[in-house]
Amino acid sequence: MKIPFLKPFIIGNLQFPINLIQGPLAGISCAPFRFLTEKYSAPAFTYTEMISCSSLLYQPQVIYQRYLKKIPGEGKVAVQLAGSDPVILKQAVMQATDYGADLIDLNCGCPVKKIRRKGSGSKLLTDPLKLFKLITAMKNNTHVPILIKIRIPEKTNEAFNFEIAKVIEEAGADCLIIHGRHWTEHYETPCQYEKIQFFVEALKIPVVGNGDIIDLKSFKNMAVTGCQGMMISRGSVGQPWFIRKLIAEIKNESFLSPSASEIGLIWLQHVSLLAELLNNDYQALLQARKFSKYYARHLPNKAAFCEALNQCKNLSDLQKISYLYFI
Ligand SMILES: Cc1cc2nc3c(=O)[nH]c(=O)nc-3n(C[C@H](O)[C@H](O)[C@H](O)COP(=O)(O)O)c2cc1C
Repeated sequence: MKIPFLKPFIIGNLQFPINLIQGPLAGISCAPFRFLTEKYSAPAFTYTEMISCSSLLYQPQVIYQRYLKKIPGEGKVAVQLAGSDPVILKQAVMQATDYGADLIDLNCGCPVKKIRRKGSGSKLLTDPLKLFKLITAMKNNTHVPILIKIRIPEKTNEAFNFEIAKVIEEAGADCLIIHGRHWTEHYETPCQYEKIQFFVEALKIPVVGNGDIIDLKSFKNMAVTGCQGMMISRGSVGQPWFIRKLIAEIKNESFLSPSASEIGLIWLQHVSLLAELLNNDYQALLQARKFSKYYARHLPNKAAFCEALNQCKNLSDLQKISYLYFI
C-alpha cells in the first residue's frame, strides 16, 4: 500500500507549498472563516461557498461584498460557481476573474433538488456534452486555473464515468476534485474510495480526493486512492487549526491544540469579523449560532453553552456568555 507524502502542488499556472485544500461550505465559507483557516492552517487555498452565476451577474456588488471580497491576511481563494448555461457561465467567469478570483471552480456535485432542477450541480454529470461546453467556456475566458468539483457520477456504469473523466480533462480543466459519494447518498453512507481511485487512474490532470477526512486514519484511507491532493471541508469548522494538526500528525510531529480559552478567543474573533463583514451585529449573531456547536465541541457543558447562546439578544450578551464558558 503506497501512502503519498505531503508535497507541493501544481494546479495550472499556480504552485502551492502543500496539497491540502480547505473545501467550500455554504453558510460558513465567507471571509472570516477563510481568514482563520489561513491563519491557523495555511492550506493550499480556501474556497468561497457556491455562488449562482446569475446572482453574480445581476447583483455583482452585493455578491462581491458578501462572498468574494477577501479580508487582509487571506491566502489564495477559489471562487465556486453554479450554473448550466455556457453563455452565462462565461460572463460569470469573467466577472469573478475581474474581482480577483485566484482559481475558479464549477460545482458539479451539489445534490440539492432546487439546484438540480435548474440543470446545475450534480445534474451536470448526466450530460457530458453540456459539461464539455461549460468547461470550455470557463477555460477560454480566464487566465486562472479551472477546478471541477464533482460527486461520483453513476453507481455502476464505469464506461460512463470514464467518459465524464475524459470530458473534464479534454475540455481543459486544470484539476478535478471528487467527493466520494453519489448525489443520492447522505453522509451516513461511507465514502467510496475505490471510485475516487478510478478517476485518479483515468486522468492525467491532478485529482483531489474529498470526503470524511477527520483524522490520520481517514487521511490514510484517502491516500490509498493515489490522489494528488486532498480536500477537507467539515473537519475545519470550529477548529481552523485542524489542517495544521493533521499535517503534524502525518509528519509524526507534536501539535499543541489550543486551550479552551484560546478556542474561546478564536470563536470571538470569528464572530466579530462576521459582524464587520455583514455590517450587522444581529445577522452575525444568527449566523454564529449555527456554527457555535463546532467551537464548543470540546466543552464539557457544550449543550448549556449553545442553549445560553440561543437566549442572547446581541453580541455583547454573546461575549459575556463566551467568557463564562470558555475563558
Ligand atoms: C453545510 C455544508 C455546506 C456545503 N456547501 C458546499 C458548497 O457550497 N459547495 C460544494 O461544492 N460543496 C459543499 N459542501 C460539500 C463539502 O464541500 C464536501 O464536499 C463534503 O462535505 C465532503 O467533505 P468533508 O467530509 O471533508 O466535509 C457542503 C457540505 C456541507 C456539510
